[in-house]
Amino acid sequence: MTPSSHGLTIIANRLPVQRVEHKDGFRWQTSPGGLVSSMIPVLRQGGRWIGWGGSHTQSLQPFRHEDIDLIPVSLQPEEVEHYYSGFSNRTLWPLFHDALRPPEFHRRWWRSYQNVNRKFAKIAAENMDPSGTCWVHDFHLQLLPSLLREQHPRAKIGFFLHIPFPPTELFAQLPWRVHLLEGMLGASLIGFQTPFGASNFRNVAERFLGAELDGDDIYYRGRKTKTGSFPISIDTESFEEMTRRPSIQAMARELRADLGGNRKILLGIDRLDYTKGIDMRLRAIETLLIANPNLAKEFVFIQVGVPSRENVPDYEELRSRIESIVGRINGRFGEPGRVPVQYLYRNLPIQSLVSYYMAADIMVITPLRDGMNLVAKEYVASKTNNEGCLILSEFTGAANEFQEALLVNPHDLDGVANTLYQAIKMGTAEGRRRMLSLRHKLHRNNVFHWSKNFLESLGELEVVRV
Ligand code: G6P
Repeated sequence: MTPSSHGLTIIANRLPVQRVEHKDGFRWQTSPGGLVSSMIPVLRQGGRWIGWGGSHTQSLQPFRHEDIDLIPVSLQPEEVEHYYSGFSNRTLWPLFHDALRPPEFHRRWWRSYQNVNRKFAKIAAENMDPSGTCWVHDFHLQLLPSLLREQHPRAKIGFFLHIPFPPTELFAQLPWRVHLLEGMLGASLIGFQTPFGASNFRNVAERFLGAELDGDDIYYRGRKTKTGSFPISIDTESFEEMTRRPSIQAMARELRADLGGNRKILLGIDRLDYTKGIDMRLRAIETLLIANPNLAKEFVFIQVGVPSRENVPDYEELRSRIESIVGRINGRFGEPGRVPVQYLYRNLPIQSLVSYYMAADIMVITPLRDGMNLVAKEYVASKTNNEGCLILSEFTGAANEFQEALLVNPHDLDGVANTLYQAIKMGTAEGRRRMLSLRHKLHRNNVFHWSKNFLESLGELEVVRV
């Protein structure tokens, strides 16, 4: 063990930085997001983050960024294709999201997934404290806990799944289900976004491994693994701070003025992913306008689609479908200088997103399945004036906590259209009452509570064979 191997080791598919090109080369920029912001203060006290630097980065050496040690894992183009785009994004991603697209099962993708997990394990095992704490994140690295356990039996290994864990009938399809479960069970603690995910996992462990269950604990091959629900959150205070900045307030005012002062602003912000239900949402807007054509003067709907996984065919196809529905709605209900739907396909800096949240009267979040959905939490955090209305899909982890939102079934076009109508016409008193209680919930669980809860639960577990 080297002196630098003390402290926490985080392992995730991606490093917490993005490469930004400029005219003299490139620089690293800290990625936005709850996971990164919650881990930075912990890692500054000693620790490291192991992950992939992204497609254009091969053979990178370990480096420090903002006082944190980053240890890159290099992936060859074939590994990016088979492990990342293939097994992670075309097998596990759809399988764990209700098979919204048919999951594809290819043995060469599986082999690559195993090899890349071994590659991460080797680098992690060399760099971590053998009896220290190691926290593995998400579906790309489900074999890692066992691989690490083989090398460092005394380590405190935790695993957190950011996406839903599917029910037995779906998980059963996976040809390598036993290996995946055994991989995860190398951890002492496995965290899920909701109690449903945790319970689905315990059920499949019992069914396909013959593991024994005792409450939240799973006993398998002489080891005990605890499972639990740890809903992730955001750095609420940093969003509230941004809403106080005069520059962001000015951006929000400008946006509102540009969109026509009296029109209600409806907003959707999502990674352009088929799980997010963007196409269904647009069709619900269309349904609303067909029934109430006069509403076209009363609101504008802004949809921001953040480019994502563009080399996966389902994502390309989704993009054209969304663009065609937007064109159809605007062609039918727009007038010169005024269209009901404004669609932006791009990345926006976090400051602009906050100004959008501040300007939006109604946030429309209707995924068909989503592990948590942090956009819902970011919107609520940005509504420091306690105004605004959140329409939220029942099929998000966030709905579990945010019962005071207007909850919808995103498959029910008429139901969503009616809820949109209700939100547009909602009185300020009801809106305020709902928003206050959402904000109250959010303040009880920020991302620092989340990481502290997980790490404390992991720390309390004894790493013993039973
Ligand atoms: C989801 C996953 C994350 C992933 C993110 C972006 O939120 O849970 O692990 O990083 O999507 O996807 P990408 O494929 O670009 O990393």
